[in-house]
Amino acid sequence: MDNSKKFYIATYGCQMNVHESEKLAGVLIDRGYTQIDDETKADIIVFNTCCIRESAEQKIMGNIGAVKPLKKLRKDIVVAVCGCMTQQTNMAIQLRQKFPFIDIIFGANNIEYFGDYLDTYFGQRKFQNSVVYNKDYMEKGGNLTITRDNKLHAYVNIIYGCNNFCTYCIVPYVRGRERSRDPEEIYKEVKNLIAMGYKVITLLGQNVNSYGLDEGGKGVTFAKLLDTIAHFEGDFELRFMSPHPKDFNDEVIEVIAKNDKISKYIHMPAQSGSNKILKAMNRNYTREKYLYIVDKIKAKIPNIILSTDIIVGFPNESEQDFQDTVDLIKRVRYANAFIFIFSKRKGTVAEKMENQIPLEVKRKRIHELLEIEHKISEQVFTNMVGQTTRVLVEEERTTFFVTKTQCGKVARIMKKEYPDVKLGTFMNVEILDYTGGNLIAKPC
Ligand code: SAH
Ligand code: SF4
Ligand code: F3S
Repeated sequence: MDNSKKFYIATYGCQMNVHESEKLAGVLIDRGYTQIDDETKADIIVFNTCCIRESAEQKIMGNIGAVKPLKKLRKDIVVAVCGCMTQQTNMAIQLRQKFPFIDIIFGANNIEYFGDYLDTYFGQRKFQNSVVYNKDYMEKGGNLTITRDNKLHAYVNIIYGCNNFCTYCIVPYVRGRERSRDPEEIYKEVKNLIAMGYKVITLLGQNVNSYGLDEGGKGVTFAKLLDTIAHFEGDFELRFMSPHPKDFNDEVIEVIAKNDKISKYIHMPAQSGSNKILKAMNRNYTREKYLYIVDKIKAKIPNIILSTDIIVGFPNESEQDFQDTVDLIKRVRYANAFIFIFSKRKGTVAEKMENQIPLEVKRKRIHELLEIEHKISEQVFTNMVGQTTRVLVEEERTTFFVTKTQCGKVARIMKKEYPDVKLGTFMNVEILDYTGGNLIAKPC
């Protein structure tokens, strides 16, 4: 009989959180616990939270609330809440008031101690609050056991925290200041992953290209880090997420252009196409600077695929400002854009700004922009027809293989015609068609 405790992790938010859930799972599996997908059968339920927008928080609150009947039925279940949401001032107290059945609350910076909190809890059956508000706290997350969700893709943290304080954003408050990880530690982890057969390595950070601007990087710049890893032996592809335009320098572009192993897909958040709004957002670049970087990338790296994040309805955004964003999207021609409605976050500068935009205007703008971006995206993928590109074969279905391009777009290869495609390998394909949101490809 299996007596080991079963745990379930609900993850919200960005890749950083997805990766941190892999670390949480590692901590628990190290203790002999088993991960399961069914919340109702778990002994330990973990909510790894996000607070980037109000909608994210509301959804999480709803899902935590939904555990109450389960906990009533089985009093011995442990409910733990961690991640960005808990790092907000006084949030741990508020959460516990709202949901007295929460047993453990801990912050985004003390994942490594989760096992200890559980031990203490099991010993005392007493509520544990271990949120650390010290923003300079340096997590040792990089050296934990990591139970990765995917056999082909692996995330690697290179920098934690953010120094930018974009006026709308809560991340610097909940994640603390920028802390680059020791380059040797990063190299070791990446080499191990390659040896284990991982094919896509994604370097993670709130601002990956701020890597090395603090002492933690030991003088290694982001460009140097990329270049070094791209020269490692093995069949792999290197990606990174997310870069900030202000640090996207020529050296980084050169390194991407000259290294075949670095993905030719870049996600570069623009947030707005209006200089007035970019300034109010404290983004530290102008529309012209952003477009200049994009033009340089396009000139140096043919067939580059770009994506972005955009916020509509920032305080004071006029129709003209919004149209500047529309124009930026049309000029850059992103394969994908993640478009968000501005959400007021407690403690940020934009929370207190005047001329907040009414919800109906925000909604109208997001719909307009989504429609425009959808058309552009369709054109970008339609234009790929006839091109050859490199894909990774990720899954096998009844009639086709699911392969993915460097930007994550599915390119199907039909099994009837090409039965010998090997799972988990890279291959060069010719794009034959674009239909129903998928590319159709053949090996070449
Ligand atoms: N560090 C990353 C982004 C992290 S948050 C970067 O700067 O690129 C991911 C995205 O959420 C941001 O790019 C932004 O578009 C959006 N976002 C952040 N705060 C927001 C807010 N208050 N309202 C709406 N969208 C927000
Ligand atoms: Fe937030 Fe700006 Fe930092 Fe990104 S760069 S995490 S948007 S403050
Ligand atoms: Fe959310 Fe935290 Fe990421 S607020 S978007 S999970 S850094």
